[in-house]
Amino acid sequence: MNNILTIDGPSGVGKGTVARVMAQKLGWSLLDSGAIYRTFALAVDARGINIGDEDALEDIAQTLDLTFKTEEDSELVSVFLDGKDVSKILRTEQTGEMASKIASIGVVRSALLKRQQDFAQNTPGLVADGRDMGTVVFFEAPFKVFLTASSKERAQRRLKQLQAQGTTGIISQILADVVARDERDSSRKNSPLKPAKDAFIIDTTELSIDEVIAQVSKLVKQ
Ligand code: C5P
Repeated sequence: MNNILTIDGPSGVGKGTVARVMAQKLGWSLLDSGAIYRTFALAVDARGINIGDEDALEDIAQTLDLTFKTEEDSELVSVFLDGKDVSKILRTEQTGEMASKIASIGVVRSALLKRQQDFAQNTPGLVADGRDMGTVVFFEAPFKVFLTASSKERAQRRLKQLQAQGTTGIISQILADVVARDERDSSRKNSPLKPAKDAFIIDTTELSIDEVIAQVSKLVKQ
């Protein structure tokens, strides 16, 4: 498929927002691959599976009952696990941390690969955000973006996001979490967080969302 835009980068960089706006602008589908890893982590936790038990992890990955539902007249996407709305718990730092630990396991990544690639079926185009969209899952995508920002700026953005969701956090703790998660995601053996060789890298530290969207839109038009 020709119409795939991948948006990768570290946590808190704003990938989700950029991906959602780009999908709306282009009329393409959206894949939030982090939500898949987060939902998977919740399922593993709920079933009390030991993360060393690779057979059980593979089994859950293959049978995961996960659905995304976009609310009408809203940009919010609700996520359902086994028919239950898990959208709120999905976005917590604790779930992100669990997802990051589980996402470093090879059998988990390969079992979730096809599920992610299927999002590119039966759609005019796909915007996919995550850590390895441009390097692994959609390595043949024609449009690849890698977003970066200083860890301090990303911690600030995460705090704002938490506040918008009606919760809050302590900036020093959020900064420590963001740094630890990126370190784990970048140093893992399986699909580490890194830009694809042919990705367009944007340092968003000093940029507004609109400025980032403008740069990404220019890339897709070209
Ligand atoms: O993007 P988000 O913060 O929702 O991702 C949660 C975790 O899932 C990340 O820290 C990362 O470890 C993992 N992940 C991944 N590959 C992706 C997307 C997310 O390993 N494509």
